[in-house]
Amino acid sequence: MAHISENIPLIDIRGVTKVYGASGAQTHALRGVDFVIHPGEFAAIIGQSGSGKSTLMNIIGFLDTVTDGEYHFAGQDVTSFSDEELALIRNKEIGFVFQSFNLLPRTTAVDNVRMPLAYAGVPEIEQIQRAKDILTMVGLKDRLTHMPNQLSGGQQQRVAIARALINNPSLILADEPTGNLDSQSGKDVMKIFDDLNKEGHTVILVTHEKNIAAHSNRVIEVLDGSIVSDDKRK
Ligand SMILES: Nc1ncnc2c1ncn2[C@@H]1O[C@H](COP(=O)(O)OP(=O)(O)OP(=O)(O)O)[C@@H](O)[C@H]1O
Ligand SMILES: [Mg+2]
Repeated sequence: MAHISENIPLIDIRGVTKVYGASGAQTHALRGVDFVIHPGEFAAIIGQSGSGKSTLMNIIGFLDTVTDGEYHFAGQDVTSFSDEELALIRNKEIGFVFQSFNLLPRTTAVDNVRMPLAYAGVPEIEQIQRAKDILTMVGLKDRLTHMPNQLSGGQQQRVAIARALINNPSLILADEPTGNLDSQSGKDVMKIFDDLNKEGHTVILVTHEKNIAAHSNRVIEVLDGSIVSDDKRK
């Protein structure tokens, strides 16, 4: 299993390429990407549409595999993990937030949020209590039994964030989490990420917006499948 330690990079990616499609109709989504993220960092990935940002996030979050190159997570070679191990580590250590929320329809906020705990075998009473607690934390105490279609976009995104946080993951990956939100909801969501990072969670988010990227300590720009700049500030 992965052991998160301050001294070991959480993410260490070297020479990673990703090619989609069969020969003749190939897309080179990533063309040799290198970067290291340490525990506690807050990084923003920016870049134009089609540049490879989501591909990179999916690889970081074990939702996709590399075509070539190396990926070590908490010091361990990700290619050495079985599918079962990948699923376990993803469920325990990684919280994924998508632009389109990806909530289950006709399923209450509490039931959406407790899903990863059910998968981890946590007793149902505890699942429900923890889901209620975390929904309260993201400001949805009075929306616990609402279905996604009874919630605003910002509220749905906060349910999705609560679901991503329920296992207290060390790494939070968010792909355009504010892309479908009005500016106030976007601010509310960013406040949650800021607070999580202050508590020590590593946060990586993809964004098109400069003011969102400004929340991070590091901005990584991807262009046509390559990292073209990587600016850290304190
Ligand atoms: N499953 C797939 N099959 C084939 N090509 C794909 C697949 N997923 C992505 N691509 C291609 O890979 C390239 C990178 O896509 P990616 O989704 O990573 O871009 P992005 O930077 O996230 O763009 P956006 O800002 O529009 O979300 C694009 O050219 C895209 O068409
Ligand atoms: Mg994308």
